[in-house]
Amino acid sequence: VLDIRKLYAEGDVFTFDPGFTSTAACESDITYIDGDKGELLYRGYPIDQLAENSHHLEVCFLLLYGELPTAAQMADFEARVTKHTMVHEQMHYFFRGFRRDSHPMATMVGVVGAMSAFYHDSTDVNDPWQREVAAIRLIAKLPTIAAMAFKYSVGQPFQYPRNNLDYASNFLHMCFAVPCEEYVVNPILSKALDRIMMLHADHEQNASTSTVRLAGSSGANPFACIAAGIACLWGPAHGGANQACLEMLREIGTVDRIPEYIARAKDKNSGFRLMGFGHRVYKNFDPRAKVMKESADEVLGLLGIENNPTLQVAKELERIALEDEFFVSRKLYPNVDFYSGIILDAMGFPTSMFTPIFALSRTVGWIAQWKEMIADPTQKIGRPRQLYIGAPRRDYQDVRHR
Ligand code: ACO
Repeated sequence: VLDIRKLYAEGDVFTFDPGFTSTAACESDITYIDGDKGELLYRGYPIDQLAENSHHLEVCFLLLYGELPTAAQMADFEARVTKHTMVHEQMHYFFRGFRRDSHPMATMVGVVGAMSAFYHDSTDVNDPWQREVAAIRLIAKLPTIAAMAFKYSVGQPFQYPRNNLDYASNFLHMCFAVPCEEYVVNPILSKALDRIMMLHADHEQNASTSTVRLAGSSGANPFACIAAGIACLWGPAHGGANQACLEMLREIGTVDRIPEYIARAKDKNSGFRLMGFGHRVYKNFDPRAKVMKESADEVLGLLGIENNPTLQVAKELERIALEDEFFVSRKLYPNVDFYSGIILDAMGFPTSMFTPIFALSRTVGWIAQWKEMIADPTQKIGRPRQLYIGAPRRDYQDVRHR
């Protein structure tokens, strides 16, 4: 029997795996994905059951501690999170250093990174209590920071959190309330947003989570690690796809233009891909996309805008692509981002807020994975190897002889 671990330890095995398509970098008991079946489990619970019956803060507890909470545990967790929803008052000045028109993701990368300057009493990664405080602070403050980034970008005053509201309702309040008017959270929107948060809460070793783990493997503090995750998430191949997808659907505009875009996506030289389509792991329906599609129908129906042209384009695009040999043979299905933008748009969020909402929802997954890694005594610094393809050894030439 080939002892891979022994060979590896002796340096005899070396794998070349660009993009880590078949390399596991860690053991984890948080999230399970079966890409062929299109199955996603958080701590063993199917995502569709959680989306139907649970709520985001309960899912946060589950991901962080491994079990669904009792009523008393939930009340205690909720109290701990709401206690930390405000940000340090000095952080308001920090925001004002950014250009007015900066993308909220750019602001978030900076502000979350700066949390280690404001909350350095929870940056000692070797202290389990400090790790716990940092986790709660991040889950509690990310919605506040995202909402502040939004308010700043539209030139409106920041809104303090309301701790008598649930997690999603509070976020809607911080984004849409203005001091001169009464703002009442629409429960339909709040429920739909909470579901979006649950669906995005964790997704095992995706690019941003792997970034968080890699940053954390050096002993970097949790705020720095989450800021690294946010920076990675921003890319259009990852979390930025929800913004890119809605922009694409709007650009298509009407169903008669879909064939033109399908043809572009199939042409490798066009550099164009169907945003919200395809996934590294799912080679079947993304189970989150199924829930998201139902949610889009429900929310737009309840809001009385079910004839929304973007939703019509999305459904027709999905139908045509799923009958097209190019997409079928490559097992390209709609992913979680395909319908989420339509719901967020109906709620009144500009496209620039789509990825920040993904970031605040994924924060619990990042922090649960980071905690799991730090607590693992076998954890090592992440250090990928390379295949060197550069020049062989050569001698330095003085500039006069080059
Ligand atoms: N549109 C058209 N063709 C596609 C698409 C797409 N969206 N996605 C993949 N393909 C094609 C590729 O051209 C390639 O074709 P080939 O085999 O003939 O060369 C084949 O499908 C496989 O594509 P890869 O890029 O090798 O797949 P990979 O697993 O590396 O990429 C990714 C996955 C990045 C998600 C890709 O499907 C993509 O770019 N999708 C669009 C962006 C997107 O929606 N991202 C969100 C992902 S979900 C998330 O982060 C929450």
